[in-house]
Amino acid sequence: MSIDDRHLPLYHAFLEQGLESWLARLPEQLARGLDRQRFGDLPAWERAVKRLPTLERQGVHLTQDTVSVDVVMDDASRRQCDNLLKILAPWRKGPYRIGEITIDTEWRSDWKWQRLAPHLSDLRGRRVLDVGGGNGYHGWRMAGAGADFVLVIDPSPRFYWQFHAMRHFIGDAGVHFLPVGIEEVPPGLAAFDTVFSMGVLYHRRSPIDHLRELYDTLRPGGELVLETLVVEGDEHQVLVPGERYAQMPNVWFLPSSSALIHWLSRVGFQNARVVDEADTLLEEQRATEWMTFQSLADFLDPEDTSRTVEGYPAPRRAVIIAQKP
Ligand SMILES: C[S@@+](CC[C@H](N)C(=O)[O-])C[C@H]1O[C@@H](n2cnc3c(N)ncnc32)[C@H](O)[C@@H]1O
Repeated sequence: MSIDDRHLPLYHAFLEQGLESWLARLPEQLARGLDRQRFGDLPAWERAVKRLPTLERQGVHLTQDTVSVDVVMDDASRRQCDNLLKILAPWRKGPYRIGEITIDTEWRSDWKWQRLAPHLSDLRGRRVLDVGGGNGYHGWRMAGAGADFVLVIDPSPRFYWQFHAMRHFIGDAGVHFLPVGIEEVPPGLAAFDTVFSMGVLYHRRSPIDHLRELYDTLRPGGELVLETLVVEGDEHQVLVPGERYAQMPNVWFLPSSSALIHWLSRVGFQNARVVDEADTLLEEQRATEWMTFQSLADFLDPEDTSRTVEGYPAPRRAVIIAQKP
């Protein structure tokens, strides 16, 4: 099997990081994650990214709320970039800026980062895994906070190409993307210093198994950062919604944050603590020029925005940090 040039930095990074046991699986995982038979839009996304012009890079900003690249851009290249980046829409996670183009994404993902960043162990020099990391927005912020190696895994091929669109402009900042789900991470890896799972647990049918999988990816002494939808209540409180929650299918378990702390200790984590808990504001998730479909305002009861359209408590999120002993 020939190795696509674009994948070479990923292979090199895996070798450098001593992830040989995973390396052998990469060709097969990349082929499956980017299978054109499974995802009909893939060729158009790939073409769009390959046609992005090469522009002179004058500065990269990974520590600011908007992940930005300063480039020299004339009117023609601005129009060209704008059109090509729109082929990859909807853009959900961000915001980003490339030269004069600001990608105002559905989510203000920077707000989530602001809520959790003050509570993290120093990321400088760390090896980090972001499970279900979307198009990599938080991955760039992790690199901005000093992480040495960041691996974003997410099974969405659209997010893979959005990541590569940004990487085209940002360059190699030690952030890599593998289009796989958590279930494809080799068991018992124990390789990462910090592991993030944000916005994933409620999509898992088996949340305790998800926590165990995360535990397995961490080295002893490593840190888990877990962010998920929660409900209010004591450690026995868990909501299992019907077919849809806030119009989303595949939502299984919304525990209280006390229940999550209990689950984490059952799985073997230590020192689990809630560092943030907040309702999701309409300004944090909304339709924009780059995500023109329905968004949070359409998923809440117009008469009572403390409820979803299905009558459940409106989205509330907690960030929990815990250590593997
Ligand atoms: C709600 S988004 C959260 C994105 C980002 N982590 C954030 O907090 O903004 C959930 C992400 O999980 C990804 N996902 C779905 N199934 C997954 C799995 N089995 N393993 C890892 N990620 C998964 C989805 O593709 C999606 O990008």
